[in-house]
Amino acid sequence: MREDIAVDLEAARTRTLTLTDIDEIDLTSQHHPLMGPLVWDLAHVGQQEDFWVLRGGDPRRDAVLPAEVDQLYDAFLHPRAERPTLPLLNARESRAFIAGVRGRVFERLERAEDLFPFSMIVQHEQQHDETMLATHQLRDGVPLLGRGAALPPPRDVARDAVLIPGGEFVLGVDADAEPASLDNERPAHVVDVPSFRLARLPVTNAEWQAFIDDAGYDTRTWWSDAGWSHRVDSGLDAPMFWAKDGSRRRFGYDEDIPADEPVQHICFYEAEAYAAWAGARLPTEVEWEKACAWDPAAGRRRRWPWGDEPPTSDRANLGGDALRPAPVGAYPAGASAYGVEQLIGDVWEWTASTLSPWPGFTPMLYATYSEPFFGPDYRVLRGGSWAVGATSIRPSFRNWDYPIRRQIFSGLRLAWDV
Ligand SMILES: [Fe+2]
Repeated sequence: MREDIAVDLEAARTRTLTLTDIDEIDLTSQHHPLMGPLVWDLAHVGQQEDFWVLRGGDPRRDAVLPAEVDQLYDAFLHPRAERPTLPLLNARESRAFIAGVRGRVFERLERAEDLFPFSMIVQHEQQHDETMLATHQLRDGVPLLGRGAALPPPRDVARDAVLIPGGEFVLGVDADAEPASLDNERPAHVVDVPSFRLARLPVTNAEWQAFIDDAGYDTRTWWSDAGWSHRVDSGLDAPMFWAKDGSRRRFGYDEDIPADEPVQHICFYEAEAYAAWAGARLPTEVEWEKACAWDPAAGRRRRWPWGDEPPTSDRANLGGDALRPAPVGAYPAGASAYGVEQLIGDVWEWTASTLSPWPGFTPMLYATYSEPFFGPDYRVLRGGSWAVGATSIRPSFRNWDYPIRRQIFSGLRLAWDV
């Protein structure tokens, strides 16, 4: 466990440094109103590491940075839009700062009894690495990241719906089974889920094109009231980064839209409209987790859809190197007990659920991680994307965002009542 965390800390830092190994101008400019400058994320990972590990989450203890600089990296005090105007550390200062903090964190790790804060900051840094990839995708200009690593080929597989028979299963996890789980994933508890069907595969670009061709964006019937007013106000007519000529812009390159790749960069309202057009609906997050983690024959949860062994490159597309989702059918070895594929990695999947605490929810050390976001404003996404670090995703992991957001690596999978 201790050794694993050391390896995970190094892996997250390698990613962070790679994604920020770019010119100062690209690091310090704001590439999109939704995002802060990359140099803010760079120092913020160290500032949070200082706060949660070295200071034990106690604001009365002195920060490594002077207090007036330290507070610049508080995400709650400074929303992304405001970050370019702050007197931030420059790139060189930021790298020196996070390296210094990291050295002390490794010293602490040698003798720490409670490893959870270390696991939390690994996941925090991995989450910021994903945010940095979203910033890179929004940036205009010459490509900086290359074309991405090779992925397994598509495979001819039925694009059918899998029956998930009704009955009880264990939703959520406990700390002893999943030490890295965050507060909103806990505790494990039994719930009864009526029978439903879930698509074996995520919705692809070609399938999304059929929705566009059938005037899906112009047909009021398919949209909720809130969805339609957002679609009209924002002029939505295709996924983000799609051009009219059948190409898309990805990390600075213009390329043909791959037909077999899961669609990404759609908002919740678009996902909801597509599902209505397809005669389906979005799954709830509880349905999604059952289809992902439950082994009905064994009557227990699996740690991953395929079993208890950690992700490998033949089971899931994670870690960010590919820079895109894998084509559908690429991971037969990653199927869940029910035969549902590509639940982990590739694209975050919008669910119908708003974010709420499981019964018995207890806030963790980072008490404002989940609690301020419970309520009707956010929709839950599940399963992680190609951009997510393997150590910061699990079948129980719950992500959430506003229903209008689509700069994230978000797609969908359909569900049906039985
Ligand atoms: Fe953060």
